[in-house]
Amino acid sequence: MELSCFGSHLGWAACVLVLALLLRARRRGAWLPRMSPTDLTGKTAIVTGANCGIGKYVALDLARRNARTILACRSRERGQAAVEEIQRATGNPNVLLRIVDISNMASVRRFAKQIRQEEKRLDILVNNAGVTGLPFSITSEGLERTFATNYLGPFLLTNLLLDTMKGSAPARIVNVSSFRHVGGTANVKHLSGEERPKNFDQSYNSTKLMNILFTNELARRLQGTGVTANSINPGIVRTEIMRHFNWLVRLLFSITSIFFMSAEEGATSTIYCAVSEEVADITGKYFDSDCRLVLPCAAARDPGLERKLWEESERLTGLTESGRM
Ligand SMILES: NC(=O)c1ccc[n+]([C@@H]2O[C@H](COP(=O)([O-])OP(=O)(O)OC[C@H]3O[C@@H](n4cnc5c(N)ncnc54)[C@H](OP(=O)(O)O)[C@@H]3O)[C@@H](O)[C@H]2O)c1
Repeated sequence: MELSCFGSHLGWAACVLVLALLLRARRRGAWLPRMSPTDLTGKTAIVTGANCGIGKYVALDLARRNARTILACRSRERGQAAVEEIQRATGNPNVLLRIVDISNMASVRRFAKQIRQEEKRLDILVNNAGVTGLPFSITSEGLERTFATNYLGPFLLTNLLLDTMKGSAPARIVNVSSFRHVGGTANVKHLSGEERPKNFDQSYNSTKLMNILFTNELARRLQGTGVTANSINPGIVRTEIMRHFNWLVRLLFSITSIFFMSAEEGATSTIYCAVSEEVADITGKYFDSDCRLVLPCAAARDPGLERKLWEESERLTGLTESGRM
């Protein structure tokens, strides 16, 4: 490597480091979970995908606040390990595991039925489970897998639990989206694979756009019920999210991840929307990783698109025919 080239690499690295330090310094002013005294004794919360990453830290915080905390996971083994870890860390015995594969609508229905039978109330629902990097594939139910996991599963689950949440109002729904929604398109034909997104990046971005469109329409439909719905961007977070990418991308992610937020920091904006007093009456909004209320991209604020997506999602999940049973 030539000396000038080496120097420019060093310069680049120094710039990244300074930027990362500046970002960290700015975060110091951000809201922190310990700043909120909210106690959740007597309340029930569900966090999907809570066995690792952001979801585990959200569940940990809610359990620390004494909520009956339900970890909704697809793996019994990984889920049970997280339950035991959270019980040990918080001393809260009311941390439990319920199994759901969020990409499978039959599994979502079974899970929701079990919750409605077992739980008297539901105060907080965090739709956190998500994947990226999956190749295009159609599930046995005729849905595209990434769209089913990140968007249609949470859509169905939320709808099936709405009556329980309305009966527990005030209650809150938090949908974990991403800054990546700006690169997405809300094409309803992607949901069933009738049309294919350009690549898996496009799929992921589109599901995150749909998370916001869904939240906005949901909030509109929930007006006056005491149940709020907001979406958040957790930031760029060091988790297992890149596990489906090839080794080179994973290596680059893990080298650069020293500059990213930890999973605990990445949980902050979700916890903020789930428990903070200042968000109690806010609904249909999008928050960034510093817990600031910000506008998502223009496509994420299109009421026509929100309605169209909702209606197609109802049709694809069978919500209209079978109702909420
Ligand atoms: N990390 C980031 O930089 C970042 C940035 C923006 C947004 N997000 C969003 O944050 C959320 C959490 O991601 P993370 O970063 O914490 O990733 P993660 O560490 O990979 O955690 C993802 C969680 O989702 C679960 N999950 C995946 N597919 C599932 C399915 N079919 N059924 C049930 N659970 C399923 C995983 O369970 P298994 O362990 O069993 O697979 C895991 O518990 C996602 O919605 C993601 O899109 C992350």
